[in-house]
Amino acid sequence: VTLVHSASQLVQVVADGRTRLRGSEMRHPVVHGEPGINYALAFDMASGRIVDLGPTAAVESRLQASGCTVQTRVDATDCVIMPGFVDAHTHPVWAGDRVHEFAMKLAGATYMDIHAAGGGIHFTVRETARATDRELADLLSSRLASMSRHGTTLAEVKSGYGLTLDAELRLLQLLCDAAADPLCPVRLSVTYLAGHAVPPGRDSAEFAAEVASEHVPRVLAERKISGRLSAVRQIDVFCERGVLNAAESARILEAALPDLRGNVHADELSDQDGAAMACRSGAAAASHLEFVSESGISAMASNDCSPVAVLLPTTARLLHLPAPPARRMIDSGCAVGLGSDFNPNAHCLSMPLIGHMACVDFGLSMEEALAACTINAAAALGLSDQTGSLEVGKLADFVLLRAPRWEHAFYQVGDSDSLVKLVCCGGRLV
Ligand code: NIG
Ligand code: FE
Repeated sequence: VTLVHSASQLVQVVADGRTRLRGSEMRHPVVHGEPGINYALAFDMASGRIVDLGPTAAVESRLQASGCTVQTRVDATDCVIMPGFVDAHTHPVWAGDRVHEFAMKLAGATYMDIHAAGGGIHFTVRETARATDRELADLLSSRLASMSRHGTTLAEVKSGYGLTLDAELRLLQLLCDAAADPLCPVRLSVTYLAGHAVPPGRDSAEFAAEVASEHVPRVLAERKISGRLSAVRQIDVFCERGVLNAAESARILEAALPDLRGNVHADELSDQDGAAMACRSGAAAASHLEFVSESGISAMASNDCSPVAVLLPTTARLLHLPAPPARRMIDSGCAVGLGSDFNPNAHCLSMPLIGHMACVDFGLSMEEALAACTINAAAALGLSDQTGSLEVGKLADFVLLRAPRWEHAFYQVGDSDSLVKLVCCGGRLV
């Protein structure tokens, strides 16, 4: 085993096998940090799983008693051991930046003005089509490396800048290749973003019908029959006025369920009944939610199978949207998660910065933000039985934070890559 020892704090987040924290449960992470005691985590190098954790002296003596040999020791003095961050929503495969649109938005243009004029997602679709596979793969891998430097160990990664079937298959292949690469620094959960925009000149209902009846079955076949896209686990649509309405979105989602888990862009720029539609379609997550209705919140709060409410602070901030009703959601009993929404509109890969923004802009406590970017973000991907907390048997997905307490992750703004001293993904030190 590898023994990471002498840490001043050990943050488990949960310690009882629960796979999501709802409402007030988000306020009580499991944190060990008695003064004068230091902490350790041991993992098996072959399986990449946690075998023990707790005060260093107790872990060492249990390992010895059970005949385990410590092969590698990692000194975590003056550090915190905490779960790796989970980013529940990213768009990392595209070419061409949109810094010119950032200037337009600062000058007052809205997201939908730019989109309707052929910019926004349409601009990125054109630039991505022009790029070679090699260029896209290199862009993707440098973005994943940056995520890892900021402490992310699991990320949801979407296609969506293809729009045609062939272009989406190409992006999904690039994501699946990255997911299968043993040297990939971040564990990836691949999402087929089937309805990101309606191609120029097409009718949305007709496009949704084509996606549901032709594109989705082909992706499912490539996943199951040829196995080329076996890493695809989720399906997504952008349910929004000027894109796909709730009925069109549901049609696409339902074509893929139950093979893929639903993960929906909902109620971002207007209330489209997106959250409630996500619940009715059995989706696992609904993202954005700036304009979610009361009935959408109650639907998401109803039980442990309801979608995780994934909040994306970068986008709300950049587009000057009202903050999503995060407090209402938590106080109603939703499981709230967080994501960076990394995309050409929201160019941010740092989950500690996202946690900071969730606290300052959306009113989460640091404890709630911690749950949201670990166990609950993993729950949005159906992976919280494997990762998202530090518990015996789970994957050794953790970070060492160069700080006296875990709260520095969200407090020391803009500095997260130097704060993160070491990242371990599935027992591999990256
Ligand atoms: O989550 N809202 C839709 N999709 C992305 C933005 C994509 C883009 O603007 O390129 C989002 O914010
Ligand atoms: Fe998004």
